[in-house]
Parts: sequence; C-alpha cells; structure tokens
Amino acid sequence: MNLVELAKKYDTDKGVSKHNYVVVYEELFKNRRSQCKNFFEIGANFGESLLMFKDYFENADIWSADIFQGDHFNEDLIKGVKTKLDDNGVRWFDADQGDRLDLNRIVNEAGEFDIILDDASHRAAEQQISLGYLFPYVKSGGLYLIEDLNYRNHKSERFADGCKRTDDMLEGFRDNKVVLSPVMSDYERKYLEDHASSIKFYCDNKVAVIEKS
Ligand SMILES: C[S@@+](CC[C@H](N)C(=O)[O-])C[C@H]1O[C@@H](n2cnc3c(N)ncnc32)[C@H](O)[C@@H]1O
Repeated sequence: MNLVELAKKYDTDKGVSKHNYVVVYEELFKNRRSQCKNFFEIGANFGESLLMFKDYFENADIWSADIFQGDHFNEDLIKGVKTKLDDNGVRWFDADQGDRLDLNRIVNEAGEFDIILDDASHRAAEQQISLGYLFPYVKSGGLYLIEDLNYRNHKSERFADGCKRTDDMLEGFRDNKVVLSPVMSDYERKYLEDHASSIKFYCDNKVAVIEKS
C-alpha cells in the first residue's frame, strides 16, 4: 500500500480527509522507502502516524518522542499508547523537543536518521532547537521535515525567546543563505548553513522540507 492508502488504514490526520500531507510525502518518500533504515517522528500523540510509517518503511527502525502531557492525555491513555508502540516495534522516548539533553538521549541510541519529521509542539523556539540540534544527525542526502508551520499556539509566546516564526526563519535562510535563530548555537547555525542543500515548502507552505547535502 502507498502512504495515501496507509493513512486511511491507520486513520491519521496526515491523510486526505484532513491535512492531506501524505500525497506529497508519498512523492518525497517513495524512492527512499526500501533504503530507509532510521525514521524519527517527533510528536507521537496516539501513535497513528507512527504505525503508518512503521508499515510503510518496512526496513526501518521507527523512533518517536513525546512529552505525553496535556489535557487530551490521562495516565491510562498514555500507558495504552506506549504499549501500542511497543507491541508494534516503534521505539519511543519521554522527551521534550526543546531540551537538548532529551534529544541527546535519543541520538545516543538511534544514531543517524534517513528522515526526521517534526510534528510536535509547533512552537517556533522548540522547532528551531530540534532542527539545530538534530540536523547533524540526518544522514547525507536525508530529509528533515517540519509540519504545520501555519499553526498558532498562544502558549508559544512563553517560549518565543525572540524567535521568528519557523517558516519566516527558513524563508530567510533559503533566500539569504544565513540562518537567523536566537535559540541555535553558532555551531548549529553554521552547520545548517553549510549542510542544507535545499529548502522547499509544500502543502500551502504548511510543510518545510530541508534536504541535507
Ligand atoms: C500533532 S500531535 C502528533 C500527532 C502524530 N504525529 C500523528 O500524526 O498522529 C503533537 C504531539 O506533540 C507532543 N508535544 C507537544 N510539545 C512537545 C514537546 N515539547 N516535545 C515533544 N512532544 C511534544 C504532544 O504531546 C502531542 O502528542
């Protein structure tokens, strides 16, 4: 089955009935499907998309991270999600995408990734911390995707740290070849400038795809 069909099977909101990202993802991923060995999605929620990717990338280890906090979770539900991920061979971490120590725990176990997909907090500072920290762990020729760039989260102000929205930051990088992000270290900014071979936007600019040279 292709990703469009699998999105339906696993009832994920990346499918055609909601965000409709999977049409683009199928095009981006189909030539990488059998070669992909390590896929990481930040933001597990109830696990639907992770089960979809586990089914799709049949030769890959699938890694996930979530803070598993918030009104939509309760203890039983979280336990259920973690059991479902375990039962389906998806590796998960209780981890905050804005915390480099948490991210470090993951890369220490997982190593480098063919594809990283950020579908977690949707807050600019946290998206940019993850991108800065994790981009060195994308394999050469691999992809780093950030979803829902249009999303407005009012709580984000608390975490803004002078960050521009991530879509604006990436457009500036694409056009001027300079990364301006106050939450990235000098090393992370320079690494991104030196190793991103392209930055493209899809799905009405809701998804950014950064390819590594
Ligand atoms: C949009 S949902 C993920 C949906 C899932 N990828 C799917 O397509 O089925 C976002 C998830 O990110 C998690 N999240 C929010 N802030 C986070 C953070 N700072 N670090 C890691 N995960 C976070 C939330 O708990 C939530 O489960």
